[in-house]
Parts: sequence; structure tokens; C-alpha cells
Amino acid sequence: MITGQHAGLLHGADYNYEQWLNSKDLLDNDLLYMREAGINVLAVGIFSWSLLESDEGVYNFGWLDECFERLYQNGQKIILATPSGSKPAWLSEKYPEVCQVTANGIRQTHGGRHNHCRSSVKYREACVRINTRLAERYGTHPALILWHVSNEYNGMHCYCPQCLAAFRSWLKKRYETLDALNAAWYTAFWSHHFTAWEQIYPADPSIHGLMLDWQRFISDQTIDFFLAETEPLRRITPGIPITTNFQMPDVGLDFHKFARHLDIISWDNYPEWHNSPDDGPVALKAAFFHDLSRSYLGKPFLMMESSPGATNWQGVSKKKKKGMHVLSSIQAVAHGSDSVQYFQWRQSRGGAEKFHDAVITHFGADDTRIFREVAETGSLLKKLSALAGTATEVQAAVVYDFQNGWALDNAQLPRSIEKNYQKECIAQYGAFWKAGISCDVISPEYSDFERYRLIVFPMLYMLSEKTAEKIRSFVRQGGVAVATYLTGMVNESDLCYLGGTPGNLTDVFGLAVEETETIAGYETQEFLMNGHNWKASHYADRIRLRGGAQVLAVFTADTEELPAVTANEYEKGTAYYLCTRTEQTFMDRFYRELCEKHGVQACVPWEIPAGVSVRERGGVLFVMNFNCREIKVLSGENVYTNLLNGETVSGTVSLQPYGVAILADKSDSGEKKSKAQNNPE
Ligand code: GAL
Repeated sequence: MITGQHAGLLHGADYNYEQWLNSKDLLDNDLLYMREAGINVLAVGIFSWSLLESDEGVYNFGWLDECFERLYQNGQKIILATPSGSKPAWLSEKYPEVCQVTANGIRQTHGGRHNHCRSSVKYREACVRINTRLAERYGTHPALILWHVSNEYNGMHCYCPQCLAAFRSWLKKRYETLDALNAAWYTAFWSHHFTAWEQIYPADPSIHGLMLDWQRFISDQTIDFFLAETEPLRRITPGIPITTNFQMPDVGLDFHKFARHLDIISWDNYPEWHNSPDDGPVALKAAFFHDLSRSYLGKPFLMMESSPGATNWQGVSKKKKKGMHVLSSIQAVAHGSDSVQYFQWRQSRGGAEKFHDAVITHFGADDTRIFREVAETGSLLKKLSALAGTATEVQAAVVYDFQNGWALDNAQLPRSIEKNYQKECIAQYGAFWKAGISCDVISPEYSDFERYRLIVFPMLYMLSEKTAEKIRSFVRQGGVAVATYLTGMVNESDLCYLGGTPGNLTDVFGLAVEETETIAGYETQEFLMNGHNWKASHYADRIRLRGGAQVLAVFTADTEELPAVTANEYEKGTAYYLCTRTEQTFMDRFYRELCEKHGVQACVPWEIPAGVSVRERGGVLFVMNFNCREIKVLSGENVYTNLLNGETVSGTVSLQPYGVAILADKSDSGEKKSKAQNNPE
């Protein structure tokens, strides 16, 4: 079980009890509605600091005591937040240093949220004080199962004197001498030599090493802040696990690094469903982030937030169409989530989020469409409770590196528009998703490569010597590596490799990139592979073969027939190289063939129609239809039980628009026996 203290899957929501203290009747209704919806956990106290501590040292825990007691008596567990995501006005007034400073030196006024300085001694002290009180007061409460530290940490920049001093100390630790720093940052360029640490100001985009280190510092400083605020929790409540809710886009934090400090990963999932006619790409993106979340620590995670209906911050926020709520919730579970949780339980009456949907909307009843779908999800999760804590066997991985993304953002390449690092990683991952092949999304630094048969390194522009060595050893021992254009161009200081790229790996890939051509939007470039012409775009490497690399495809729009795709046998493994950005249909076919050739298996041998995703977890198959039309999937000879309705499925799985089937194999005798099938529910 993910929390160690709760059997089964969690179903819950952020509960902003403090917004309803004057509405006892509604709070009473909440308890009844929660039971009806199968809600078994609530995240409380997330933005409640000004109510918990109305002035320095003046605490008001009465309302939270009451909230704990009511939920506990009602049978719910509690995830307790620390309130540092939003600070009380008295704190900003008394200690202005807690407010961030812009790059131009302007101190921000109080307001909003997530905008405190993470180096501020006063802010850290205030957080430790309130967290100590929370841990002492609620640490042994039987309802408490998990700490939710702060809320959605982000990589916002603060240029106050404390942050600048901390940055310079961070640099001293990393480089020890200014000479080393000047060399790493290549400061001979444009007369940027530093002769004193105090001269360094992190707002010069012409020094890429500086900007990269500044971002690394911001990320490290946030982790440091997290560690400072969790110190009393670890000390006073060592038995209560700790999480913080990560987010989907790159918010300037290295979540791979941050994850090492969490007991449980959780993340907030807000796909833009129905914002375009095809929900397939939206589902793919959500799948990528679910798999990233599972891969951080290689174990199940929690979906801490999702909207039960529409959000109110997307350009156009659509309500979920019939079926989508259950489908998107089940998608999280299929990818390894041990929970389905919402923002939020009851829709706020005021403030910036008053038009964001919630389980209980302003309509205020339990017979609304949203409520019914939430309740349906609740009863489904109960049926699947034996899946909690279960894993999926994974043989393939895509590397996604936050720091590489920052370096690419800074890089002024010959083609700088549409670098699209994250999008390209998702596209490569998409080939596996579509084929029903489980895929992790891993870190070049922290993940163990040896666990996989095949690893894709899309656009790994910044490649440290250490990572290059890991890739070499992975291929040497029989692994299959696929790298693309822009891989291994710079080292961890953002200094270009000399003598051909990918740096330190030209022998492994059997080639050296001599130069990279750009392809403009109006141009057509193609390459020929297996008798088919495929579109190439954005970048095209001109490579020189080294050793015995095999050319699998050649560019056709050039008279020179330059290689476009290559394969090199290196010791026991194979290293493939894609010289250009390709269309999705190419990737789909390329990776399917590669997986077949190298023994990477899909979870089913079926043809999976477009917009349908099939996943295996804990011996159960999840067949999910993200199309707005009915789909029939040919499922071979095995006989299954659909755990949703107990029906027998044989030969064909029929899926409603946005429908899902959860299949336990009836013909399976023993080894792959479904755990969920044994669920007494
Ligand atoms: C999340 C945040 C929540 C709420 C939600 C609205 O990013 O953690 O507090 O603001 O967005 O979608």
C-alpha cells in the first residue's frame, strides 16, 4: 500500500474546510456526500496559514481540530498540508524580506500565492514554527496518513540579497575558484571574465553556463527550502510519509532530483480534454506524465489533483464529456496511481477559483452529473482496491531530463523556433503508448539503465561524461540505445564538444555529426526507409560514418544520399541514430519494429486502434478508448472478465465513446493471475 497505512486505492479531494466555517449545514452535508461518493481521503489545510496563525505566534487550531475529528468519525483519512504555499499578510508586513524581488531589484507586494523568497531566513523560521505546531498537534492523530508539504513548488526567481548571496555560495561550492568558474562559463566570450564573486548577477542570457547554473541553483534552493520545512515533520512524525504535489509542465525544478527526497510521489493532472477534436494527443500527454511520475521512484504514485469537471484557467475549459471522468481517472490508475483525487471537494464561493469545478458545485447537490460520475469512480476504485501498490513490468524507457530542457531553452541554435524538447520526448514515447508497450520516463542521472532493454534519448543536447559512460556501458552489455539529432552537443557546463557529436559516444553510435542543417517550414525533406518516403523536419545532421555502422535510411531530397537513420553494433548491444525529426507515423513503425527485433513486448498482441490505449497493471488489462465514438478491439482467443460489470469478453472488446474495459484473464492459470480478480469486494 502506498501510504503504508491505508489499504486499497485512495479516492479524495482537497478540502478547504476553512472556507466554510460559517456554513455548518454545508459542512454537515459534506460528510454525507463524501460517504455517498466513496471518498476516503481529504487533503486539508493547504492554504490556511492566515487562519491557523492570525498573528505571529497566535495560533487557532480549533477549526482544524474540528475538521480532523469530523472526517475521522466519518471514516475518512487525512492528508495534512503545510501551509507555506501562501503566506499571511502579517508576515509580509512584519518581515518584507519574505516577498520576492524581481531581476530589476523591485520587492514584490503581498498577495497571490507561491511567491515567497525561498532563501529568506524569516520565512524559513516561520514555516518551521507552524510546521512544528502541526506535527506536534496532529502527528499522532489516527486519521493522518500523509504530509502534503506546501503546494506545487515552482522555480520562480527571486533576486533579493539573500538569494544572491546563497547563489554565490552555491557557485563557490561547485567551482571552488573563480578560474574554474570562468573556464566552465567560457567567459573569454564578450569580455565576461569575473574577478570577484560579487560581480556575478544571474541575469545575463549571453552566458549560458551562468543561466544554467542559476536555474540549477533555483531548483536546489527550492529542495533546500523543502528540506528545511520538512525537518520538524521528519523529527516529530517519523512514521508519517511525506509528499509534495509536482506539476505537469517544466516549472523550473529538477523533479528527478527533488523526487529523491520524497517518500511518495504525487502530482496534479490537468489535461485539456476536448479542447481540440481529437483527445488522443491529450491522453498521450497525460500518460507521459503519469509514467514520469511512476518512474521518479520506480513505484506507484498518487494523482493528488485533477478536476472533476472543467478548470477555469485554460483558454477554453471544457466540461468532461460523458465517460471522460471515469476514463481519465482510470487512466491514472492504469499507469500506476494509487489514488484519484480532485481539486477540490466543494467549489469556492469567492476568489480566483470560484468558477473552477469541484465535486460539490455551487448547485450544491449530490444528484449533479459531476457528483454521479465521481461516485461512479468511487465505487469502481473500491472494486479495484487490490491493485494498490502493484507494479507493471517495463522493458523500455524514454529519457526526459529537466536540466537538458533548460540548456536547450538557452541555446541559440541555427533553428531556435520549435525546439519543442518536451513535445518531442512525448512524441517518441507516443510510439510505445500507441503500441501498448509499457514505457518508463527516466532520468539520465538517477535512473538505472541496466533495468531496460531499450532506451530512447531524444534531443539529449546536454550530455555529461558520466551519462555518456552510462550509455556506453548499457549498450556494451546488450542494451539498445536510440539517440536523435542534437544529442551530445554540449557537456554539463554547456560547452560544445569538439571533434564531432554525440560527445564521448561517436564510437558507440559509429558516427560523428559534422554539421546540422536546418529545415525551414516551407521546405520538403524526406528520407527513404523500407521502400517508403518519410517526412523529415526541423533538423538534419550531416554525419560521417565511423566503424561499421549500417545505414538504414537515406535523405532523398539531396543528391548526395546522406544517411538519415543508422544502426551500429557495439559490443553486445546496438546503438541507433535518427539524424532528423520525423513524422509520428514513422516513429510508430520504427519503434514497433525495433521492439519486435529486440524482444521488447507489448502487453497484448492485438492491433490497437488509434486513440485506444492498452495498459497492464497488476495482471489486469486496461483498455481505454479516448475516441468520441464506439470502438471494437479484436482481442484474440483469450477469455476475460470485465471487472467493471462482470461480463465475459471473448474475441472483441466493445468500448463506448470514452469507454473503458478492465479485463482479468479468465483463461490464465496461475502465474499471471489477476490480483484484482481476487478482490473480495
Ligand atoms: C493547482 C493547484 C490548486 C488549484 C488548481 C486549480 O495547480 O495546486 O491549488 O489552484 O491548480 O486547477
